Amino acid sequence: MNTNLSFSHPAQVETECLAVVVLDRTEKDRTEKDHGPKDKTEVTVESSDNALKAAAAEMIASGEVSGKILEATLLHHPAGLKAKRLLLLGGGKAKNFTSFELRKLAGTAVRFLKAKGIRSFAFLAPERSIPGEEAVKAIVEGAFVGNFDPDTYKSDRKDQKIESLTVVAGGDQARLQKMMEEARILGESQNFTRELVNEPSNRLTPTMLAERARKMAQQTGLKCEVYGADKIKELKMGAFWGVAQGSDEPPALIVLRYEPADAPATPVLGLVGKGITFDTGGISIKPADGMEKMKYDMAGGAAMIGAMRGIALLKPKVKVTAVICATENMPSGKAQKPGDVQIAMSGKSIEIINTDAEGRLVLADGLYYARQLGCTHLIDAATLTGAVVVALGYVNAGVFANDEKMYERFSRALEKAGEKFWRLPLDEEYREVIKSNIADMVNSGGRYGGAVTAAMFLKEFAEDTPWLHLDIAGTAWTEENKAWIAKGPSGIAVRSLVEFARDFNG
Ligand code: BES
Ligand code: MN
Ligand code: ZN
Repeated sequence: MNTNLSFSHPAQVETECLAVVVLDRTEKDRTEKDHGPKDKTEVTVESSDNALKAAAAEMIASGEVSGKILEATLLHHPAGLKAKRLLLLGGGKAKNFTSFELRKLAGTAVRFLKAKGIRSFAFLAPERSIPGEEAVKAIVEGAFVGNFDPDTYKSDRKDQKIESLTVVAGGDQARLQKMMEEARILGESQNFTRELVNEPSNRLTPTMLAERARKMAQQTGLKCEVYGADKIKELKMGAFWGVAQGSDEPPALIVLRYEPADAPATPVLGLVGKGITFDTGGISIKPADGMEKMKYDMAGGAAMIGAMRGIALLKPKVKVTAVICATENMPSGKAQKPGDVQIAMSGKSIEIINTDAEGRLVLADGLYYARQLGCTHLIDAATLTGAVVVALGYVNAGVFANDEKMYERFSRALEKAGEKFWRLPLDEEYREVIKSNIADMVNSGGRYGGAVTAAMFLKEFAEDTPWLHLDIAGTAWTEENKAWIAKGPSGIAVRSLVEFARDFNG
Protein backbone atom coordinates (compact mmCIF):
# COMPACT_ATOMS: atom_id res chain seq x y z
CA MET A 1 0.00 0.00 0.00
CA ASN A 2 1.30 3.42 -0.98
CA THR A 3 0.92 6.12 1.61
CA ASN A 4 1.13 9.85 1.13
CA LEU A 5 0.19 13.07 2.82
CA SER A 6 -2.07 15.81 1.60
CA PHE A 7 -2.36 19.31 3.01
CA SER A 8 -5.32 20.30 0.85
CA HIS A 9 -8.59 21.55 2.26
CA PRO A 10 -10.76 18.47 2.79
CA ALA A 11 -13.30 19.69 0.24
CA GLN A 12 -10.54 19.99 -2.39
CA VAL A 13 -9.19 16.45 -2.05
CA GLU A 14 -9.75 14.50 -5.24
CA THR A 15 -10.19 10.89 -4.24
CA GLU A 16 -12.38 7.83 -4.74
CA CYS A 17 -13.47 8.32 -1.16
CA LEU A 18 -12.79 10.70 1.69
CA ALA A 19 -13.08 9.06 5.13
CA VAL A 20 -13.83 11.33 8.07
CA VAL A 21 -14.47 10.75 11.76
CA VAL A 22 -17.80 11.63 13.33
CA LEU A 23 -17.97 12.01 17.10
CA ASP A 24 -20.78 12.14 19.57
CA ARG A 25 -20.26 15.24 21.70
CA THR A 26 -23.57 14.93 23.52
CA GLU A 27 -23.37 15.88 27.16
CA LYS A 28 -25.98 15.82 29.88
CA ASP A 29 -27.35 19.34 29.98
CA ARG A 30 -27.29 20.26 33.64
CA THR A 31 -28.73 23.74 33.20
CA GLU A 32 -32.14 22.30 32.50
CA LYS A 33 -32.13 20.22 35.69
CA ASP A 34 -35.52 21.57 36.77
CA HIS A 35 -37.19 19.96 33.82
CA GLY A 36 -35.38 16.64 34.38
CA PRO A 37 -32.22 15.45 32.67
CA LYS A 38 -32.22 16.45 29.03
CA ASP A 39 -29.67 15.44 26.43
CA LYS A 40 -28.50 17.96 23.94
CA THR A 41 -27.58 15.81 20.96
CA GLU A 42 -24.48 17.03 19.23
CA VAL A 43 -22.89 14.85 16.60
CA THR A 44 -20.02 16.46 14.74
CA VAL A 45 -17.78 15.77 11.80
CA GLU A 46 -14.21 16.13 13.03
CA SER A 47 -13.29 18.97 10.72
CA SER A 48 -13.59 22.73 10.68
CA ASP A 49 -14.28 22.66 6.95
CA ASN A 50 -17.71 24.09 6.24
CA ALA A 51 -18.26 22.25 2.98
CA LEU A 52 -17.56 18.97 4.71
CA LYS A 53 -19.86 19.79 7.60
CA ALA A 54 -22.58 20.71 5.15
CA ALA A 55 -22.12 17.47 3.21
CA ALA A 56 -22.70 15.42 6.35
CA ALA A 57 -25.35 17.66 7.92
CA GLU A 58 -28.40 15.92 6.52
CA MET A 59 -27.26 12.45 7.52
CA ILE A 60 -26.53 13.68 11.02
CA ALA A 61 -29.77 15.64 11.34
CA SER A 62 -31.81 12.61 10.28
CA GLY A 63 -30.12 10.52 12.98
CA GLU A 64 -28.87 8.03 10.39
CA VAL A 65 -25.36 8.98 11.39
CA SER A 66 -25.08 8.92 15.17
CA GLY A 67 -21.32 8.79 15.62
CA LYS A 68 -21.48 5.51 17.50
CA ILE A 69 -18.23 3.62 17.48
CA LEU A 70 -17.41 1.73 14.23
CA GLU A 71 -20.56 2.96 12.47
CA ALA A 72 -19.72 3.33 8.76
CA THR A 73 -21.93 5.28 6.36
CA LEU A 74 -21.08 5.80 2.71
CA LEU A 75 -22.41 8.72 0.67
CA HIS A 76 -22.04 9.10 -3.09
CA HIS A 77 -21.43 12.41 -4.83
CA PRO A 78 -21.24 14.48 -1.66
CA ALA A 79 -22.29 18.02 -2.52
CA GLY A 80 -19.52 20.58 -2.43
CA LEU A 81 -16.67 18.07 -2.23
CA LYS A 82 -14.25 16.96 -4.91
CA ALA A 83 -14.23 13.44 -3.44
CA LYS A 84 -16.41 10.91 -5.28
CA ARG A 85 -17.61 9.43 -2.01
CA LEU A 86 -17.71 10.41 1.63
CA LEU A 87 -17.28 7.76 4.33
CA LEU A 88 -18.53 8.82 7.75
CA LEU A 89 -16.89 6.78 10.52
CA GLY A 90 -18.34 6.79 14.01
CA GLY A 91 -15.72 7.31 16.68
CA GLY A 92 -18.07 7.06 19.67
CA LYS A 93 -18.19 9.52 22.54
CA ALA A 94 -15.77 12.39 21.97
CA LYS A 95 -14.45 12.23 25.52
CA ASN A 96 -13.39 8.58 25.03
CA PHE A 97 -11.90 9.05 21.58
CA THR A 98 -8.16 8.37 21.45
CA SER A 99 -5.65 7.15 18.89
CA PHE A 100 -6.63 3.63 19.97
CA GLU A 101 -10.11 4.17 18.48
CA LEU A 102 -8.70 6.09 15.51
CA ARG A 103 -6.46 3.14 14.61
CA LYS A 104 -9.52 0.89 14.54
CA LEU A 105 -11.42 3.38 12.39
CA ALA A 106 -8.64 3.43 9.81
CA GLY A 107 -8.70 -0.37 9.70
CA THR A 108 -12.47 -0.27 9.41
CA ALA A 109 -12.32 2.18 6.49
CA VAL A 110 -9.84 -0.04 4.67
CA ARG A 111 -11.89 -3.20 5.16
CA PHE A 112 -15.17 -1.49 4.33
CA LEU A 113 -13.88 0.11 1.14
CA LYS A 114 -11.77 -2.70 -0.24
CA ALA A 115 -14.75 -5.05 0.01
CA LYS A 116 -16.51 -2.68 -2.37
CA GLY A 117 -13.69 -2.84 -4.89
CA ILE A 118 -12.26 0.57 -4.03
CA ARG A 119 -8.47 0.66 -4.32
CA SER A 120 -7.53 4.09 -3.08
CA PHE A 121 -8.93 6.58 -0.61
CA ALA A 122 -8.10 9.50 1.64
CA PHE A 123 -8.46 9.69 5.41
CA LEU A 124 -8.91 13.02 7.15
CA ALA A 125 -6.95 13.26 10.41
CA PRO A 126 -9.31 14.42 13.19
CA GLU A 127 -7.08 17.20 14.42
CA ARG A 128 -9.39 18.68 16.98
CA SER A 129 -9.33 15.49 19.05
CA ILE A 130 -5.86 14.02 18.41
CA PRO A 131 -2.55 15.80 17.74
CA GLY A 132 -1.54 15.60 14.07
CA GLU A 133 1.51 13.36 14.34
CA GLU A 134 -0.20 10.92 16.64
CA ALA A 135 -3.20 10.83 14.33
CA VAL A 136 -1.12 10.15 11.21
CA LYS A 137 0.63 7.30 12.99
CA ALA A 138 -2.60 5.70 14.18
CA ILE A 139 -4.28 6.03 10.79
CA VAL A 140 -1.39 4.48 8.89
CA GLU A 141 -0.87 1.64 11.39
CA GLY A 142 -4.58 0.88 11.45
CA ALA A 143 -4.80 0.93 7.66
CA PHE A 144 -1.98 -1.59 7.28
CA VAL A 145 -3.54 -3.87 9.88
CA GLY A 146 -6.91 -3.66 8.11
CA ASN A 147 -5.39 -4.34 4.70
CA PHE A 148 -4.18 -7.82 5.68
CA ASP A 149 -6.22 -10.90 4.81
CA PRO A 150 -5.24 -14.47 5.66
CA ASP A 151 -6.36 -15.97 2.32
CA THR A 152 -2.85 -17.04 1.23
CA TYR A 153 -3.91 -20.36 -0.30
CA LYS A 154 -7.27 -19.50 -1.84
CA SER A 155 -7.04 -20.34 -5.54
CA ASP A 156 -9.48 -17.53 -6.34
CA ARG A 157 -7.60 -15.03 -4.23
CA LYS A 158 -8.49 -11.71 -5.81
CA ASP A 159 -5.90 -9.72 -3.98
CA GLN A 160 -8.50 -7.15 -3.08
CA LYS A 161 -6.37 -4.65 -1.29
CA ILE A 162 -6.22 -0.94 -0.82
CA GLU A 163 -3.34 0.17 -3.00
CA SER A 164 -3.08 3.79 -2.01
CA LEU A 165 -3.89 5.78 1.12
CA THR A 166 -3.68 9.54 1.42
CA VAL A 167 -3.77 11.04 4.90
CA VAL A 168 -5.13 14.55 4.90
CA ALA A 169 -3.55 16.49 7.74
CA GLY A 170 -2.16 19.83 8.75
CA GLY A 171 1.14 20.58 10.46
CA ASP A 172 4.86 20.25 9.96
CA GLN A 173 5.24 18.34 6.73
CA ALA A 174 8.64 16.81 7.48
CA ARG A 175 7.53 15.53 10.88
CA LEU A 176 4.28 14.13 9.57
CA GLN A 177 6.14 12.43 6.74
CA LYS A 178 8.52 10.85 9.24
CA MET A 179 5.61 9.62 11.34
CA MET A 180 4.01 8.13 8.28
CA GLU A 181 7.16 6.19 7.40
CA GLU A 182 7.53 4.91 10.97
CA ALA A 183 3.92 3.80 11.05
CA ARG A 184 4.36 1.99 7.75
CA ILE A 185 7.33 0.08 9.14
CA LEU A 186 5.36 -0.85 12.26
CA GLY A 187 2.30 -1.94 10.30
CA GLU A 188 4.28 -3.89 7.71
CA SER A 189 6.34 -5.61 10.39
CA GLN A 190 3.17 -6.64 12.18
CA ASN A 191 1.79 -8.02 8.90
CA PHE A 192 5.06 -9.85 8.25
CA THR A 193 4.52 -11.65 11.56
CA ARG A 194 0.91 -12.37 10.63
CA GLU A 195 2.01 -13.99 7.34
CA LEU A 196 4.30 -16.31 9.28
CA VAL A 197 1.70 -17.18 11.92
CA ASN A 198 -0.87 -17.89 9.24
CA GLU A 199 1.27 -20.54 7.54
CA PRO A 200 0.30 -24.15 8.20
CA SER A 201 2.91 -26.42 9.74
CA ASN A 202 3.60 -28.30 6.49
CA ARG A 203 4.48 -25.02 4.83
CA LEU A 204 6.38 -23.54 7.70
CA THR A 205 8.59 -26.10 9.40
CA PRO A 206 11.26 -24.89 11.83
CA THR A 207 13.75 -24.95 8.93
CA MET A 208 11.45 -22.86 6.75
CA LEU A 209 10.79 -20.40 9.58
CA ALA A 210 14.55 -20.00 9.91
CA GLU A 211 14.83 -19.41 6.16
CA ARG A 212 12.18 -16.69 6.31
CA ALA A 213 14.04 -15.05 9.20
CA ARG A 214 17.31 -15.27 7.28
CA LYS A 215 15.82 -13.70 4.18
CA MET A 216 14.32 -10.86 6.22
CA ALA A 217 17.68 -10.36 7.95
CA GLN A 218 19.46 -10.09 4.60
CA GLN A 219 16.98 -7.49 3.42
CA THR A 220 17.20 -5.36 6.55
CA GLY A 221 20.87 -5.73 7.44
CA LEU A 222 20.49 -7.91 10.54
CA LYS A 223 22.91 -10.68 11.41
CA CYS A 224 21.29 -14.09 11.36
CA GLU A 225 22.60 -17.42 12.59
CA VAL A 226 20.64 -20.65 12.42
CA TYR A 227 21.66 -23.74 14.37
CA GLY A 228 20.32 -27.28 14.16
CA ALA A 229 20.12 -30.34 16.40
CA ASP A 230 23.89 -30.77 16.74
CA LYS A 231 24.42 -27.30 18.14
CA ILE A 232 21.38 -27.60 20.42
CA LYS A 233 22.86 -30.78 21.89
CA GLU A 234 26.36 -29.30 22.01
CA LEU A 235 25.04 -26.32 23.98
CA LYS A 236 23.41 -28.84 26.33
CA MET A 237 19.97 -27.41 25.74
CA GLY A 238 18.33 -30.45 27.30
CA ALA A 239 14.93 -28.80 27.74
CA PHE A 240 14.71 -27.58 24.14
CA TRP A 241 16.04 -30.90 22.82
CA GLY A 242 13.57 -32.82 25.02
CA VAL A 243 10.79 -31.33 22.91
CA ALA A 244 12.65 -31.45 19.59
CA GLN A 245 13.75 -35.10 19.93
CA GLY A 246 10.22 -36.35 19.22
CA SER A 247 9.94 -34.87 15.75
CA ASP A 248 11.34 -36.03 12.41
CA GLU A 249 11.44 -32.39 11.39
CA PRO A 250 14.79 -30.84 12.46
CA PRO A 251 14.58 -28.02 15.05
CA ALA A 252 16.08 -24.58 14.48
CA LEU A 253 17.70 -22.24 16.95
CA ILE A 254 17.43 -18.84 15.27
CA VAL A 255 19.56 -15.92 16.43
CA LEU A 256 19.02 -12.45 14.98
CA ARG A 257 21.25 -9.58 15.98
CA TYR A 258 20.84 -5.86 15.64
CA GLU A 259 24.14 -4.21 16.52
CA PRO A 260 24.28 -0.63 15.25
CA ALA A 261 27.64 1.10 15.33
CA ASP A 262 26.24 4.00 17.36
CA ALA A 263 24.89 1.80 20.18
CA PRO A 264 26.63 1.49 23.57
CA ALA A 265 28.02 -1.94 24.53
CA THR A 266 25.25 -2.35 27.08
CA PRO A 267 22.35 -2.67 27.61
CA VAL A 268 21.52 -5.51 25.23
CA LEU A 269 17.86 -6.28 24.90
CA GLY A 270 17.08 -9.97 24.41
CA LEU A 271 13.88 -11.07 22.67
CA VAL A 272 13.12 -14.74 23.15
CA GLY A 273 10.32 -16.39 21.19
CA LYS A 274 8.47 -19.69 21.41
CA GLY A 275 8.55 -21.14 17.91
CA ILE A 276 6.51 -24.34 18.11
CA THR A 277 5.50 -24.72 14.47
CA PHE A 278 2.98 -27.34 15.52
CA ASP A 279 1.92 -28.43 19.00
CA THR A 280 0.25 -31.84 19.08
CA GLY A 281 0.89 -32.00 22.82
CA GLY A 282 3.41 -34.80 22.28
CA ILE A 283 2.75 -38.05 24.20
CA SER A 284 0.33 -36.06 26.42
CA ILE A 285 -1.53 -35.59 23.17
CA LYS A 286 -4.17 -32.90 22.66
CA PRO A 287 -7.77 -33.73 21.68
CA ALA A 288 -8.40 -33.68 17.90
CA ASP A 289 -11.02 -30.96 18.18
CA GLY A 290 -9.36 -27.63 17.44
CA MET A 291 -5.87 -29.10 17.18
CA GLU A 292 -5.46 -27.54 13.72
CA LYS A 293 -5.09 -24.20 15.44
CA MET A 294 -1.83 -25.28 17.02
CA LYS A 295 -0.04 -24.14 13.86
CA TYR A 296 -0.07 -20.73 15.54
CA ASP A 297 2.03 -21.94 18.46
CA MET A 298 4.99 -20.16 16.89
CA ALA A 299 3.32 -16.75 17.20
CA GLY A 300 5.71 -15.64 19.96
CA GLY A 301 8.71 -16.49 17.80
CA ALA A 302 7.12 -14.83 14.77
CA ALA A 303 6.43 -11.71 16.87
CA MET A 304 10.13 -11.51 17.71
CA ILE A 305 11.11 -11.91 14.05
CA GLY A 306 8.63 -9.19 13.04
CA ALA A 307 9.82 -6.94 15.85
CA MET A 308 13.44 -7.38 14.72
CA ARG A 309 12.38 -6.32 11.24
CA GLY A 310 10.82 -3.17 12.67
CA ILE A 311 13.85 -2.46 14.83
CA ALA A 312 16.27 -2.98 11.94
CA LEU A 313 14.36 -0.46 9.84
CA LEU A 314 13.71 2.14 12.56
CA LYS A 315 17.30 1.95 13.81
CA PRO A 316 17.20 2.80 17.52
CA LYS A 317 20.63 3.23 19.17
CA VAL A 318 20.50 0.07 21.23
CA LYS A 319 21.63 -3.50 20.74
CA VAL A 320 18.96 -6.13 20.38
CA THR A 321 19.38 -9.89 20.07
CA ALA A 322 16.53 -12.26 19.29
CA VAL A 323 16.57 -15.97 20.07
CA ILE A 324 13.81 -18.11 18.58
CA CYS A 325 13.51 -21.74 19.60
CA ALA A 326 11.70 -23.48 16.76
CA THR A 327 10.56 -27.10 16.77
CA GLU A 328 7.48 -29.25 16.41
CA ASN A 329 6.03 -30.95 19.49
CA MET A 330 5.24 -34.46 18.28
CA PRO A 331 4.49 -37.89 19.74
CA SER A 332 6.77 -40.62 18.34
CA GLY A 333 8.99 -43.50 19.38
CA LYS A 334 11.70 -40.93 20.07
CA ALA A 335 9.48 -38.48 21.95
CA GLN A 336 10.02 -37.61 25.60
CA LYS A 337 7.54 -39.17 28.00
CA PRO A 338 5.86 -38.05 31.20
CA GLY A 339 8.20 -38.76 34.08
CA ASP A 340 11.34 -38.15 32.03
CA VAL A 341 13.89 -35.80 33.53
CA GLN A 342 15.68 -33.26 31.35
CA ILE A 343 18.66 -31.13 32.30
CA ALA A 344 18.32 -27.59 30.97
CA MET A 345 21.29 -25.61 29.65
CA SER A 346 21.47 -23.73 32.95
CA GLY A 347 22.03 -27.04 34.74
CA LYS A 348 18.60 -27.10 36.39
CA SER A 349 16.75 -30.40 36.21
CA ILE A 350 13.13 -30.66 35.06
CA GLU A 351 10.69 -33.51 35.60
CA ILE A 352 8.34 -33.69 32.63
CA ILE A 353 4.82 -34.11 34.01
CA ASN A 354 3.03 -33.17 30.83
CA THR A 355 4.70 -33.15 27.41
CA ASP A 356 2.11 -30.57 26.32
CA ALA A 357 3.78 -28.00 28.57
CA GLU A 358 6.54 -27.76 25.95
CA GLY A 359 6.69 -24.01 25.43
CA ARG A 360 8.28 -23.32 28.81
CA LEU A 361 10.88 -26.00 28.05
CA VAL A 362 12.11 -24.42 24.85
CA LEU A 363 11.97 -20.96 26.44
CA ALA A 364 13.94 -22.12 29.50
CA ASP A 365 16.92 -22.75 27.27
CA GLY A 366 16.17 -19.77 25.04
CA LEU A 367 16.19 -17.38 28.00
CA TYR A 368 19.36 -18.84 29.44
CA TYR A 369 21.10 -18.80 26.07
CA ALA A 370 20.12 -15.15 25.50
CA ARG A 371 21.82 -14.30 28.80
CA GLN A 372 24.91 -16.24 27.69
CA LEU A 373 24.92 -14.17 24.51
CA GLY A 374 25.18 -11.03 26.65
CA CYS A 375 21.58 -9.89 26.93
CA THR A 376 21.16 -7.71 30.00
CA HIS A 377 17.36 -7.42 29.75
CA LEU A 378 14.92 -10.01 28.50
CA ILE A 379 11.46 -10.18 26.99
CA ASP A 380 9.90 -13.46 25.95
CA ALA A 381 6.70 -13.92 23.98
CA ALA A 382 4.79 -17.17 23.75
CA THR A 383 1.40 -18.74 23.17
CA LEU A 384 2.17 -20.40 26.45
CA THR A 385 -1.01 -21.39 28.27
CA GLY A 386 -4.69 -22.08 27.81
CA ALA A 387 -4.95 -20.71 31.33
CA VAL A 388 -4.19 -17.16 30.21
CA VAL A 389 -7.18 -17.43 27.88
CA VAL A 390 -9.33 -18.51 30.84
CA ALA A 391 -8.02 -15.57 32.87
CA LEU A 392 -8.10 -12.76 30.29
CA GLY A 393 -10.08 -14.03 27.31
CA TYR A 394 -9.30 -12.71 23.86
CA VAL A 395 -9.02 -9.04 24.84
CA ASN A 396 -5.89 -8.64 26.95
CA ALA A 397 -2.68 -10.60 26.65
CA GLY A 398 -0.87 -11.45 29.87
CA VAL A 399 2.32 -9.75 30.98
CA PHE A 400 4.56 -10.80 33.87
CA ALA A 401 7.54 -8.87 35.18
CA ASN A 402 10.30 -9.50 37.72
CA ASP A 403 11.36 -5.87 37.47
CA GLU A 404 9.24 -2.73 37.99
CA LYS A 405 11.27 -0.54 35.66
CA MET A 406 10.89 -3.02 32.82
CA TYR A 407 7.17 -3.15 33.43
CA GLU A 408 6.85 0.65 33.46
CA ARG A 409 8.75 0.92 30.21
CA PHE A 410 6.55 -1.73 28.70
CA SER A 411 3.40 0.12 29.83
CA ARG A 412 4.62 3.18 27.98
CA ALA A 413 5.32 1.11 24.86
CA LEU A 414 1.80 -0.33 25.07
CA GLU A 415 0.38 3.17 25.23
CA LYS A 416 2.21 4.15 22.06
CA ALA A 417 1.38 0.95 20.22
CA GLY A 418 -2.25 0.80 21.33
CA GLU A 419 -2.04 -2.82 22.43
CA LYS A 420 -3.67 -4.37 25.50
CA PHE A 421 -1.76 -6.40 28.06
CA TRP A 422 -2.75 -7.01 31.66
CA ARG A 423 -0.23 -7.66 34.39
CA LEU A 424 -0.44 -10.93 36.31
CA PRO A 425 1.45 -11.77 39.52
CA LEU A 426 4.65 -13.70 40.23
CA ASP A 427 4.48 -14.16 44.00
CA GLU A 428 6.97 -16.59 45.50
CA GLU A 429 4.09 -18.62 46.97
CA TYR A 430 3.21 -19.90 43.51
CA ARG A 431 6.56 -21.68 43.31
CA GLU A 432 5.23 -24.36 45.65
CA VAL A 433 3.34 -26.11 42.84
CA ILE A 434 6.29 -26.49 40.49
CA LYS A 435 8.39 -28.43 43.02
CA SER A 436 9.41 -31.95 42.04
CA ASN A 437 10.32 -34.99 44.14
CA ILE A 438 12.99 -36.15 41.77
CA ALA A 439 14.27 -32.94 40.16
CA ASP A 440 14.54 -29.17 40.66
CA MET A 441 11.10 -28.54 39.25
CA VAL A 442 8.21 -30.02 37.30
CA ASN A 443 7.11 -28.58 33.97
CA SER A 444 3.43 -28.36 34.91
CA GLY A 445 1.85 -26.85 37.98
CA GLY A 446 -1.61 -28.17 37.14
CA ARG A 447 -4.79 -26.32 36.27
CA TYR A 448 -5.11 -23.58 38.84
CA GLY A 449 -3.24 -20.38 38.12
CA GLY A 450 -1.76 -22.11 35.09
CA ALA A 451 -0.58 -18.92 33.40
CA VAL A 452 1.15 -17.82 36.60
CA THR A 453 2.83 -21.12 37.36
CA ALA A 454 4.11 -21.31 33.78
CA ALA A 455 5.60 -17.85 34.25
CA MET A 456 7.10 -18.95 37.59
CA PHE A 457 8.81 -21.77 35.72
CA LEU A 458 10.34 -19.30 33.24
CA LYS A 459 11.43 -17.03 36.07
CA GLU A 460 13.77 -19.82 37.21
CA PHE A 461 15.71 -19.30 33.99
CA ALA A 462 15.57 -15.52 33.78
CA GLU A 463 16.88 -15.48 37.38
CA ASP A 464 17.91 -11.95 38.33
CA THR A 465 18.02 -10.55 34.80
CA PRO A 466 15.26 -7.93 34.39
CA TRP A 467 12.63 -9.79 32.43
CA LEU A 468 9.13 -9.60 30.98
CA HIS A 469 7.08 -12.57 29.91
CA LEU A 470 4.24 -12.07 27.41
CA ASP A 471 1.63 -14.82 27.24
CA ILE A 472 -0.21 -14.23 23.97
CA ALA A 473 -2.13 -17.54 23.73
CA GLY A 474 -5.51 -15.76 23.76
CA THR A 475 -4.63 -12.81 21.56
CA ALA A 476 -2.33 -14.08 18.80
CA TRP A 477 -5.31 -15.39 16.85
CA THR A 478 -8.45 -13.29 16.29
CA GLU A 479 -11.38 -15.70 16.54
CA GLU A 480 -13.88 -13.68 14.52
CA ASN A 481 -13.81 -11.09 11.76
CA LYS A 482 -13.92 -7.60 13.20
CA ALA A 483 -14.66 -4.40 11.33
CA TRP A 484 -10.99 -3.35 11.57
CA ILE A 485 -9.13 -6.68 11.44
CA ALA A 486 -9.58 -10.01 9.70
CA LYS A 487 -10.12 -13.22 11.59
CA GLY A 488 -6.83 -15.08 11.93
CA PRO A 489 -3.32 -14.10 13.03
CA SER A 490 -3.28 -10.75 14.85
CA GLY A 491 0.42 -9.92 15.04
CA ILE A 492 -0.01 -8.97 18.70
CA ALA A 493 3.08 -7.67 20.53
CA VAL A 494 5.06 -6.66 17.44
CA ARG A 495 4.32 -2.93 17.64
CA SER A 496 4.77 -2.83 21.42
CA LEU A 497 8.10 -4.64 21.23
CA VAL A 498 9.40 -2.25 18.59
CA GLU A 499 8.20 0.77 20.59
CA PHE A 500 9.88 -0.70 23.67
CA ALA A 501 13.19 -1.11 21.86
CA ARG A 502 13.01 2.40 20.39
CA ASP A 503 12.88 3.91 23.86
CA PHE A 504 15.18 1.48 25.58
CA ASN A 505 18.44 2.58 27.14
CA GLY A 506 18.85 0.21 30.07
N1 BES B 1 0.40 -24.09 23.03
C1 BES B 1 -0.29 -24.43 24.22
C2 BES B 1 -1.07 -23.27 24.82
C3 BES B 1 -2.20 -22.71 24.00
C4 BES B 1 -3.50 -23.02 24.32
C5 BES B 1 -1.97 -21.82 22.99
C6 BES B 1 -4.54 -22.47 23.61
C7 BES B 1 -3.01 -21.28 22.27
C8 BES B 1 -4.30 -21.59 22.59
C9 BES B 1 0.70 -24.92 25.27
O1 BES B 1 1.83 -25.56 24.77
C10 BES B 1 0.00 -25.90 26.12
O2 BES B 1 -0.38 -26.93 25.61
N2 BES B 1 -0.17 -25.57 27.38
C11 BES B 1 -0.84 -26.42 28.30
C12 BES B 1 -0.04 -26.47 29.57
C13 BES B 1 -0.51 -27.50 30.55
C14 BES B 1 -0.25 -28.89 29.99
C15 BES B 1 0.23 -27.30 31.84
C16 BES B 1 -2.23 -25.84 28.55
O3 BES B 1 -2.36 -24.62 28.63
O4 BES B 1 -3.17 -26.61 28.62
MN1 MN C 1 1.53 -27.59 24.42
ZN1 ZN D 1 2.40 -25.05 22.89
